[in-house]
Amino acid sequence: MNADDKKRLAAEAALDYIQNDDVIGVGTGSTANYFIDALAKVRGKIDGAVASSEASAERLRSHNIPVLDLNATGDLPLYVDGADEATELRALIKGGGGALTREKIVANASKKFICIADDSKLVNRLGSFPLPIEVVPMARSAVARRMVQLGGAPELRQGFTTDNGNIIIDVHNLSITQPIEMETQIATLAGVVTVGIFAIRPADVLLLGSDSGLKVI
Ligand code: 5RP
Repeated sequence: MNADDKKRLAAEAALDYIQNDDVIGVGTGSTANYFIDALAKVRGKIDGAVASSEASAERLRSHNIPVLDLNATGDLPLYVDGADEATELRALIKGGGGALTREKIVANASKKFICIADDSKLVNRLGSFPLPIEVVPMARSAVARRMVQLGGAPELRQGFTTDNGNIIIDVHNLSITQPIEMETQIATLAGVVTVGIFAIRPADVLLLGSDSGLKVI
């Protein structure tokens, strides 16, 4: 099975977590896109979706799935999204697609967070994937210096502006042995909007597509 087949397998398995008349949160990225396309086939079951990015909102609308504002819906029963890395404890790195801020907002507003991915995303320790951090542009150099002090190698994501008008710094070479502590430490730096560690609010379930079928963690 190739990576796309594994992503599709995980995405389609997430449909089982939807209840009739739910409004659900929908993430961003290629695996989330498979979920949106699968959702289109059962769209009558849900009342609508809250999207974690403009790109996902557009894809949902293209399937005639109503896109709702989180301020109007209140908390959600379910959020389905991909990840760049995941541990057995379901701590994640997210933000490869740059949508980490809205993803963290929707994840935190959701009772259940189902993370869907191919099994290459499962790691023993977070940090091989460069850690995305959304930063207010004025704080770019200050935050980058703090990342160097933490042992990382920060790199500005060139030519990229988030849906919120900010920049992304991707931090290489971090060994994230204590995800909750590092999430807290980076999140509290002035100028940081969101750090792409999802450990304080991890996923509740990991659905991983693999050669031997679906793995549920
Ligand atoms: C976007 C994300 C994505 O979930 C993450 O990058 C995984 O993407 P893909 O499903 O394309 O591998 O966090 O900001």
